[in-house]
Amino acid sequence: MNQKKLLYIETFGCQMNDRDSEIMRQLLANAFEPTELINDADAIIVNTCSIRGKAEQKAYSLLGALRKRKKEKPELIIAATGCVAQQEGAKMLSRMPHVNLVIGPQNIYQLPDLFVETQRQGKGLVATEMVKSFRIPPFLPSIQDGHPYKRFVTIMQGCNNFCTYCIVPFTRGREISRKPEDILAEVNHLAAGGVKEVTLLGQNVNSYGNDHPVASRTGFAALLRKVAEIKGIERIRFTTSNPNDLSLELMRCFAELDKLCPHFHLPVQSGSNTVLKRMNRKYTIEHYLEKVATLREFCPGIALTTDLIVGFPGETDMDFQATMALIEQVRYHSAFSFKYSNRPPARACDFPDPIPREEKERRLAVLQQRLQEITLERNMEYIHGIHRF
Ligand code: SAH
Ligand code: SF4
Ligand code: F3S
Repeated sequence: MNQKKLLYIETFGCQMNDRDSEIMRQLLANAFEPTELINDADAIIVNTCSIRGKAEQKAYSLLGALRKRKKEKPELIIAATGCVAQQEGAKMLSRMPHVNLVIGPQNIYQLPDLFVETQRQGKGLVATEMVKSFRIPPFLPSIQDGHPYKRFVTIMQGCNNFCTYCIVPFTRGREISRKPEDILAEVNHLAAGGVKEVTLLGQNVNSYGNDHPVASRTGFAALLRKVAEIKGIERIRFTTSNPNDLSLELMRCFAELDKLCPHFHLPVQSGSNTVLKRMNRKYTIEHYLEKVATLREFCPGIALTTDLIVGFPGETDMDFQATMALIEQVRYHSAFSFKYSNRPPARACDFPDPIPREEKERRLAVLQQRLQEITLERNMEYIHGIHRF
């Protein structure tokens, strides 16, 4: 029997990319086994993220560094996948001719065929077409390959929100929800294999099912209830939610479903209503705080985490102070905070942006310092037993 070849995957970006990397490993499992050592690999996949300029640069610098490796080992297969691949398509091949394959997130299921084809044709191939009718194939995860107790389950892909700073709607396309039966079959399969915790994934899970016919639609809260009925699953998490789409029905699940972990990641982005409006976030801080209050009513002690962007085009010092005031009010258990990054073709790239880079950096440092202190204070509450679970 032929010995299997070695596959190395480097994953950047969000949990959806983590899950896609798992899928790709599994799709290639007949011919390849995973290695942690990039230098031993016969095939290398760089699963890229495009969310900020820095993430894109990281992907390009790793791909660039592989040029030398490919010279030493011409039979090496190099594939770029994920959001930068989707966005750049053929441009990536002309910029990096040593790359064999450029594959968008919808096209990873063709990976085994593309591996064969690039070798047969002896040239680089691009698979980035996105179709409206695309459905994530019902594909059961491998139990052996992955964490024994906790797993990601992608329930939908894409996003319809078009926040003006964000590249995701351009790289992952419009929202497409998986069928509830496919998701439940996947979770059942994981539970039968000993998995205890699942995290349901989507860029905006609150709108899960909105693209299905109304008559037969299962919304996100209903899906959660069905997942909670699965024997063997003890903990359920999900990410991410746009506050605008957060329903009362979903918040109520925190009071009613014991298996739902008392944590909600609710990205706010800014504490200023003017900035939120220009970001096209569709909620005000007042609405956001109402939702926070309702969540805390349903689930006292719920851990709230968030994402924040500093230095959005035109953000004034007053806008920034509103963000500082918001974090004092909500006291997040933890938060990711980022300096705004231009991501063409996202609309905010055309907004006037008079704020100097140094000022944005100063604001980010001030924000991160205070966020860290609040996280520490929150963690101390657990040590001193204010929360009991
Ligand atoms: N779907 C998620 C967000 C995914 S991106 C949601 O809507 O909440 C993760 C985070 O990256 C965002 O919440 C935002 O804070 C940040 N981000 C997205 N685009 C950005 C940009 N152009 N510059 C800086 N940060 C950005
Ligand atoms: Fe991007 Fe907004 Fe969609 Fe989140 S909701 S993925 S920030 S467009
Ligand atoms: Fe990055 Fe694409 Fe995820 S841009 S955050 S890998 S959806």
